[in-house]
Amino acid sequence: MAQLWGGRFTKETDQLVYNFNASISFDQKFYEQDIRGSKAHVKMLAKQGILTEEERDEILKGLDGILEDVRSGRLLITSEYEDIHSFVEANLIDRIGDAGKKLHTGRSRNDQVALDMKLYVRDEIDEIDEEVKNLLLALQKIMEEHVHTYMPGFTHLQKAQPVTLAHHIGAYFEMFRRDRSRLFDIRKRMNTCPLGAGALAGTTYPLDRTYTAELLGFDEPTRNSMDSVSDRDYVIELLSALSTIMMHLSRFSEEIILWNSNEYRFVEIDDAYSTGSSIMPQKKNPDIAELVRGKTGRVYGALMSIMTTMKGIPLAYNKDMQEDKELTFDAIDTVKGCLALFTGMVSTMQFRKDNMEASAKNGFTNATDAADYLVNHGVPFRDAHGIVGRLVLTCLDKGISLDDLSLEEYKEISPVFEKDIYEAISMRTCVEKRMTLGAPGPEVMEQVIAANKEYLAKE
Ligand code: ARG
Repeated sequence: MAQLWGGRFTKETDQLVYNFNASISFDQKFYEQDIRGSKAHVKMLAKQGILTEEERDEILKGLDGILEDVRSGRLLITSEYEDIHSFVEANLIDRIGDAGKKLHTGRSRNDQVALDMKLYVRDEIDEIDEEVKNLLLALQKIMEEHVHTYMPGFTHLQKAQPVTLAHHIGAYFEMFRRDRSRLFDIRKRMNTCPLGAGALAGTTYPLDRTYTAELLGFDEPTRNSMDSVSDRDYVIELLSALSTIMMHLSRFSEEIILWNSNEYRFVEIDDAYSTGSSIMPQKKNPDIAELVRGKTGRVYGALMSIMTTMKGIPLAYNKDMQEDKELTFDAIDTVKGCLALFTGMVSTMQFRKDNMEASAKNGFTNATDAADYLVNHGVPFRDAHGIVGRLVLTCLDKGISLDDLSLEEYKEISPVFEKDIYEAISMRTCVEKRMTLGAPGPEVMEQVIAANKEYLAKE
């Protein structure tokens, strides 16, 4: 047990208490951020004349040595230390002696851990953003290739109107683009530096907090020291944004699972992204999509957990807040893993265009267009709706699609139909005529794809 605060105690901590209280098993994950923060703090202390330049240089060298040794595996982070902060400080003192004892001047573990967590979350936001961007690049590629791939669009999971694969995938492009913008907003709002807040009430040393903030890439220092050490809003915001990313991935996974089923056969997941069954030799299962869908619950759980932890905490720091770490780390790792695998799965997936188009044709997705044909020939829409309804009934009776009815059969139900009805209800016409912005018509779709391309090149 190596503790920083033994002075006022006359008894050793009970071993179970020590274990219960310690956070080293998980906060070691941000050793790099802890050292980065300490280096900035020491530079600021020297600039303010609180440490000498020699002391600063000795400490910086010691900290760099620890960083290198931990990275290379020469120095192991062990449970002998209470937390990552104690580990770094104790090792520093071991290495450089007295100067190391000055590292913690004008600082508390409360503002230190607030800083470390922010640095860690900020680094991870950048990595997650990169993963979401990779997914968008994969979606963009599919969209470019499938502007003319017709498929049924669904409402209530019933075939509704024809769309294209580019259009369907484009919907997910929009979702993940919003996810990126949410990450961007969070990063901007959280980018204030808590270091210098001390335990809760600032310090009596003449710290230059703006300088530390600048060194660490923050926009400015935080404005209230009590809030600085007890704010975890940004963790909640991040977990909420991650939950939304997972919700989007999960919806998409659900569709891929359906599309990959024997009944749909719209896609074929690559062998490298599928698994077999131990008993049924014919099986090729979409396990990756199922796991992504399943792991969504675990990220939602993290959000509910931190919301509940924070709701009853009086100002300022309380140990409850140590609970922010494990679940946030787990959620971040889960989302990064899901994004990378999902991107691999969709970019290797084969789309079965023929099945998609046949499914659109055989599901009366052009029924609205048949009604529009009548409207264009002067029939009021409500009457047209009834006429086409009767046509659909006839088709269902015969087990055929609207495209297969003879002109006589059309005319029996309404004399307004002429032989151009076939062209009017062809998949191509149905899709191409939908040319308002946001619709699947190839012309507007190409415009959206070009704008997406520009966005991906910039951001
Ligand atoms: N491990 C602690 C945490 O994660 C660090 C802060 C400790 N501060 C304290 N006053 N005990 O929150």
